[in-house]
Amino acid sequence: MTSLLPPIVMSQFPEALRARLVALRRDLHCHPELSLKEERTAAKLHDELALLNPVSLSRVAGTAVIARIKGRDPKAPVVAVRGDIDALPIREATGLEYASTNHGVMHACGHDVHATWALGAAYLLAANPAAGDVIVVLQPAEEIGKGAQAVLASGALEGVAAIFGAHVDRRFAVGQVVAQEGPLAASADTFDIRLVGAGAHGARPHEAADPVVGAGALIGALQTIVSRRVNPADPAVVTVGSIHGGTASNVIPDEVRLTGTLRAMDPHTRRLLHDEVRRIAEAVASTYRLTAHIEMDWNTPPIVNPARESAWACHAAQSLLGEEGVVPLGFVNMGGEDFAFYMEKIPGCFLRIGAREPGGEVIPAHSPKFHAAEDSIFVGAAVLAETARVASAALAGQA
Ligand code: NI
Repeated sequence: MTSLLPPIVMSQFPEALRARLVALRRDLHCHPELSLKEERTAAKLHDELALLNPVSLSRVAGTAVIARIKGRDPKAPVVAVRGDIDALPIREATGLEYASTNHGVMHACGHDVHATWALGAAYLLAANPAAGDVIVVLQPAEEIGKGAQAVLASGALEGVAAIFGAHVDRRFAVGQVVAQEGPLAASADTFDIRLVGAGAHGARPHEAADPVVGAGALIGALQTIVSRRVNPADPAVVTVGSIHGGTASNVIPDEVRLTGTLRAMDPHTRRLLHDEVRRIAEAVASTYRLTAHIEMDWNTPPIVNPARESAWACHAAQSLLGEEGVVPLGFVNMGGEDFAFYMEKIPGCFLRIGAREPGGEVIPAHSPKFHAAEDSIFVGAAVLAETARVASAALAGQA
C-alpha cells in the first residue's frame, strides 16, 4: 500500500497494522448498522480492542465499547478519545467494492472511518503510551443525538480530564486537519407543531377552521425569525422539514402537522429561536382560529472549542502534518454533532479531518455517494493519538 502522507504519520503504522485497519474499515462499511442497533459493529470493535490487552474493556449503554489503554503513570490524569460508529437509513450509491450489503443502510457520514481511526489510535497509544491512561470510546447513536448522553450516563467517563474527537470532511484534502478554537458545530434542536382546527367540506370553508391555510401562514411567518429577529451577525437556521395534513382535494382536514430543525451557534440565539417559534405558532394559530400544540426539543448544543484544548490538538496535528497541514475551517458549519454533550461536562476539542483523495470531488456527508478516502484513517488515528499524548503530558505537568 502506498500513501502520500508524511512519513512521520505512516511510519507509525507497520504494514500489518495498515492492512488490518483498512480491512476493518471496509468490513464496517460493508455491514453498516443504524443507531442503537450497532450489535455486530460493537462486537467486532470489542474483539479488536481485546487484542491490545487494555487495562479494562467493557460494553456500556447497549452498543458502546470502552477501552482503557495503559499510560506510563497510573496516577496521571486520564484523557479520552471518541469515535462514533453508527450508520444512516440511506441506500448507498458509491459503487465501492465494499459498498453496503445491508439494504437501505449506509455509512454515509464516515463513522466507519471514525470507528477505525479510534481503534488505530488505541493501537498507537498501546505501542507508545501517553503519560496517563487514555479511554477510547466507541460511541453508538450519534446520528440520533443519543449516544454521547448514554455514554455519559453510564459513568464510563467519570474523572476524565479532557476529551477529543473528529469528523471526516471531504471539503478538505487528506492530510489537512482543522484543529481550532471557537465555533465548530451548531446546536440542532427540533420542533413539532400540530395546528388543530375544525374540518369541513372543501366547498364550505366558512364552516371550517382551516389548518391548511394556517400552516401556509405559519411557514412564512417562521421565516421572519432569522430575517427579522436574529442579529444578522449571528448564524441561525429555521427549517420546516415536513408538513402533513389532509386526505382529499375536497376535504378541509382537522389538523396539519409541521416539524423542523433549529440551528444556532450561541446560547442566546438558540433561546431566541425557541421562544420565537413558540410565540409565532401560537399567534398564527389564534389568528386562524386554530389551536397550536407545540413540542420543542433541546437536542445537541453547539460545539465551541476552548482555547487550551484546541491548542493541544493544533500542536499535535502540526507536529505530524506540518504547519501547512493545519488549516482554518473557513466557513460556518451549521451541522450538529453530539460530541457537544461531552463538552458540556468535559473540556475538549473537536477536529475535522480532510477525507478527499487527490483529484476527488467534494461530496457532502449524508449523500448516497459519500465515502471518506482510505488514508484519512491514518491521519485521524495519528492525530487523535498524538493529541491525547500532548494533552495527557500537559495535564500531568510534563509539558
Ligand atoms: Ni457524522
